[in-house]
Order: sequence, then structure tokens, then C-alpha cells
Amino acid sequence: MTDLEQLLQAAQAEFAATSTPAELENAKARFLGKAGRVTELLKGLAALPVDEKKARGAEINVLKSGIEAALTERRQALADAELALQLKAEALDVTLPGRSRGTGALHPITRAMARIEAIFGSMGFDVADGPEIETDWFSFSALNNPENHPARSMQDTFYVDMKDEGGRYFNLRPHTSPMQIRYAQAHARRYAGQDHMPEIRVIAPGRTYRVDNDATHSPMFHQVEGLWVGENISFKDLKAVYLNFITAFFETDQLQLRFRPSYFPFTEPSAEIDIMFESGPLKGRWLEVSGSGQVHPQVIRNMGLDPERYIGFAFGSGIDRLAMLRYGVNDLRQFFDGDLRFLSQFK
Ligand code: PHE
Repeated sequence: MTDLEQLLQAAQAEFAATSTPAELENAKARFLGKAGRVTELLKGLAALPVDEKKARGAEINVLKSGIEAALTERRQALADAELALQLKAEALDVTLPGRSRGTGALHPITRAMARIEAIFGSMGFDVADGPEIETDWFSFSALNNPENHPARSMQDTFYVDMKDEGGRYFNLRPHTSPMQIRYAQAHARRYAGQDHMPEIRVIAPGRTYRVDNDATHSPMFHQVEGLWVGENISFKDLKAVYLNFITAFFETDQLQLRFRPSYFPFTEPSAEIDIMFESGPLKGRWLEVSGSGQVHPQVIRNMGLDPERYIGFAFGSGIDRLAMLRYGVNDLRQFFDGDLRFLSQFK
């Protein structure tokens, strides 16, 4: 092996021993740098006789190209290794389980309301919405419940420190019944002076307020008002509609309905509606779910309609109570505590 071949092998070995680009550059300098071994050889050419110079020079150039090729190869190998390392460090493990944000869910009362709206919707009832801060007239007087009448305490509510035009306090509506008046008045106005008025068939679900607070009463609760007024609507229609609703809501016809005589100033006659399941955990107990009755002629008049011509029924059911029965919840307050351990069960 010539001295030049040995030098090439030495360079290849030194380059191969480096593990970083900086080390490689240092190794390069030892061969190709200003004081490098190849540079020294080239300088030595000057001392040779002319005829040897040419051949030796060509040999040294072959050596130089060989060293440069080894250098380039090692540079590439080091760069590849570095890239591989970097890719490995930045790698994503796509097989890891995902981190989800968690999906929300509708509140059980919202779900119950949606069911109620869908069921009554299927029976041709419109769905109406109205103010929670009411005037005394809509909450009581228009519903045939005169000022200072003791029946007002049946729906004792919260008063707002603000008075209406008549100097009476506004209140948080104690029931959804004001919506009977609001909806029917608008309907009556719309068809005033016409021979024919379509029937009024509406439900009005929403928040209501009373001075009550225990396991089955909350100061804020939900009701759904129902109203059907026409020229020939009777208690049998109320019974059919309510039975239809309640069997659809609970998805069972294993239940009975009972109308128990009662009193409300705005209906005459009036009845509480009780239901009794014939099977399941609540079997055999009568449960009160709604007030109801035939709309009082004075209320029909306050709606702007002629009580000689129009007649109908109304009911007001507790949505929270229905949701409690449907979902087997025994403390109403759990619906409003906002405890996710409770609420997440309704996903
Ligand atoms: N508004 C009554 C209540 O809250 C219920 C009711 C509504 C009764 C409609 C009769 C007719 O107690």
C-alpha cells in the first residue's frame, strides 16, 4: 500500500469515528486544512524534479478527491442521523387514546319540556312563551282572582319593586296561567270582526315562582299551561287530551287518570288531575300532576271573547313533578343544584 493509499484509509477511519458535524470539520482540517496532511504533501511537490512533479501531483489529486468524497459521505450520514433523531423526538404516538373535551347534555327539565312540546305539538297545539315578570292583572285579576281575594294566597309569589300603570306591583308569575290571557287576547284581536275564528289550542311551558321551598317545592319551578277554546270543547276533550299526553310522556298505558274536584278562580268546574301507575316502582299511588278545569266565563270575557259562544278547558301541570316521576328523582332541589354528578346521569 502506498503512502497515499494509507493516508486515504486514515482519513476514512477518522471521519467514520466522528459523531457530530463539528468533530467531522475538525477531522477535515487535519487533512485538507491549511496545515493539513494533504496540503503538506502539495507543498512538498515544489522540491521534486520536474518529471516526477507531474505524476506525483496527479496522484495527490486523486487522494484529495477520495478524501473529499469520504467527507461528503460522512456529512450526509451525520445529517441523516440527526434528522432521524429529531423525527423520533418529535414523533406523535397516534395510537394513544384521544383526550376529549367531554360532551354536554340537555338538562333533564329541558328534556322533559322538549318531550311535552313534541307530544302536544303532535296533537295540534301551538307552543307559546311569555314574560316571567308579570303585571298583577295578568297573574291574578284577569284570571278572575280579584285584588285582596284570599284565593290569591294559593299562588303566593314574589313581588317586584316596580308598579304597573294601575299602581299595582309587578310580580314574578306564580303560574303559567297569565299566558292563557295573553295568547287568547292576541288570537281574539287577530280574528275580531270575522265570522269564523280558529280554535285556540296552545301550551305555554316556562318558569314560575312561588314562596315555597322543600323537597317537592322550589321557589322557582316549571309549569306548562294548556288551553283549548272553541265553540264546543268539553271536559271529555280535556280527559282525552290529557290521557293521550300522559301515556305518551311516560311511554306506558299502564296508568289511570283521575279528576278530583277542586277550586281555582279561573275555572268552573275545576279539578286536580291525579295519575296512578299500574306497574313499576310507583305502582298503586295516586300522584297529583295538574290543576285543570273549564275556563270560567269571566276569563273567556277577559280574553276578549264571548262566553255565550266560546268554551274550553285549561290545565296547568308541574313539569318538574313530571320529570321527577319519569326519571325517578325524589328531591326536586337536585334539578337546580347544578351538581354534575347528578346531571351527568341524564346524558
Ligand atoms: N294555575 C294553576 C296553578 O298553578 C293550575 C291551573 C291551570 C288550574 C289551569 C286550572 C287551569 O295552581
